[in-house]
Amino acid sequence: KPIVLSGCQPSGQLTLGNYMGALKQWVAMQDDHDCLYMLVDLHAITVRQDREALYNACLDGLALYLACGIDPQRSTLFVQSHVPEHAQLAWVLNCYTQMGELNRMTQFKDKSAKNVNNINVGLYSYPVLQAADILVYGAHKVPVGEDQKQHLELTRDIATRFNNLYGDVLTLPEPYIPEFGARIMSLQEPERKMSKSDTNPNNFIGLLEEPKKLTKKIKRAVTDSDEQARIYFDPEEKAGVSNLLTLLSLATGKSVEALVPEYEDKMYGHLKGDIADAVVALVEPIQQRFTALREDRAYLDSVMKAGAYKASARATETLQRVYDAVGFITKP
Ligand code: TYM
Repeated sequence: KPIVLSGCQPSGQLTLGNYMGALKQWVAMQDDHDCLYMLVDLHAITVRQDREALYNACLDGLALYLACGIDPQRSTLFVQSHVPEHAQLAWVLNCYTQMGELNRMTQFKDKSAKNVNNINVGLYSYPVLQAADILVYGAHKVPVGEDQKQHLELTRDIATRFNNLYGDVLTLPEPYIPEFGARIMSLQEPERKMSKSDTNPNNFIGLLEEPKKLTKKIKRAVTDSDEQARIYFDPEEKAGVSNLLTLLSLATGKSVEALVPEYEDKMYGHLKGDIADAVVALVEPIQQRFTALREDRAYLDSVMKAGAYKASARATETLQRVYDAVGFITKP
């Protein structure tokens, strides 16, 4: 089976964007892939986190992965900091990555512009740790949203450089980006992506948000000033409406082509009401499972423990090959 690896940062509540762009694919891929899914706490601290909030976000994330349908019997589910090989491989790969390459990373540019008081070295070499996450398992496919494409390309470049020097040590991964839903936009600023770390909570929908609150956010979403208020799909001209149609399509499983005619003579408010209903129907069962799982710390611990053990056993093999390739003495 092809190996799949992916992760989300526990830096706030996971959003509908994370679900559509990533988690939904993760769940579907479990049937015919060998999947590893993690919470990337090491990545999260590249931006200052509140200690307690990070701790809880990680447990929430884990319970939410399970509630969305990640099955720990079939997939390896773990917390990144529990598997030391990620950081160990990242160090080696740091030495095979050029500063010029990292300077070009748009996520670094965005985040350093937003966090001018904490442009730390970890934030800078963030993509190298991500490359290590992927390469340490020899992952073939990496299901992510559109925004991670550049990091995936860098991962391939680093692996190719390493292999050119030392032979076929690392496996080149392919990004797996859904054709539709790979870039869910902000509700208030539909020209920007929906982000869990957005300072304006009206911009995103958290998967754990109360149905009432989430309905309100959808009803308040920005559309446009088209006087005829026509509903059709055109991300350039009608960014807000197109994003709403995308959400409705993903939440109902109906194509946009099938949906648009249904709204021919209808108002924006009508569309929004239907989206709110569809999103509530999607998240409610997830929230119910989440609540039960989140209270069962013993179960979450057992999942984390088994996952870390399985992941580490695999990661150590690649790390050993890499250490060997560069000329480190095997620990006697
Ligand atoms: P993160 O935590 O920002 O996001 C997790 C996943 O959700 C996707 N995503 C979106 N998809 C569609 N629309 C959106 N608005 C949206 N926002 C986020 C992201 O593309 C991602 O797939 N660097 C990664 C975490 C990471 C990782 C890895 C991923 C660390 N190591 C190894 C894959 C493989 C990140 O910040 O994701």
